[in-house]
Amino acid sequence: MALALLCAGALGTPLRTTARPETDAQSCTTHAKALLVRLKSVLEAALDQKRSVMFNGFNCTELSVIVVPHSQTPSICQPSQHVTCSSQSSQSFNKNECLKNITGDLQYYRSMLNTYVKSLDQTKSQTITDLTSITDSIQTLQKNCQPLQNTEEQQTENWKPKGQAFEDRMDLCKQLKGFHIRAITINRALGYISAEADNS
Ligand SMILES: *[C@@H]1O[C@H](CO)[C@@H](O)[C@H](O)[C@H]1NC(C)=O
Ligand SMILES: *[C@@H]1O[C@H](CO)[C@@H](O)[C@H](O)[C@H]1NC(C)=O
Repeated sequence: MALALLCAGALGTPLRTTARPETDAQSCTTHAKALLVRLKSVLEAALDQKRSVMFNGFNCTELSVIVVPHSQTPSICQPSQHVTCSSQSSQSFNKNECLKNITGDLQYYRSMLNTYVKSLDQTKSQTITDLTSITDSIQTLQKNCQPLQNTEEQQTENWKPKGQAFEDRMDLCKQLKGFHIRAITINRALGYISAEADNS
């Protein structure tokens, strides 16, 4: 983001003009941001031990973080240090592979959370409401971010519940913390892609 601002500044053009309708790329950043905000709010409420049903009985803050397996989003979506403000900058950043990995990440978490919700005793309504709000945000991002729709379907590994409620809740804690970190990376990457689209 800092780079984008720097480039826009150097070119003497504002990053975003209010007169222009929202571009596809801007729609990606808007909905990626909404997903991050949603995730953060659910996680913060769940980490609050006094109110938490989701993580009742253990301290989620102290557990490790698990991120989506076999995804290379952080390395693939990292723009190179040699990036310039010219339109050639896309060559130092494999946009398609980055988008493919992001698509894979989103599919993994959406399917993981859906599977988890299905495994729950359906009276756990607060957890179901919270997790469903996250999967809804994922779906909204997938639907409103054109570049993500253009990437081919990826086969992703599926999460499976162990069938023991306590262990599955601990796993959910680790996975949600991982998803939060990944969502920050996804926001940053879609920010680069969006800035690039705006400058071309
Ligand atoms: C959970 O762990 C964190 C970090 O160690 C600590 O700050 C917090 O007080 C703990 N919460 C509870 C309820 O024990
Ligand atoms: C992530 O990117 C790597 C490197 O380009 C690619 O080989 C891999 O298939 C991608 N993974 C997914 C899930 O798209």
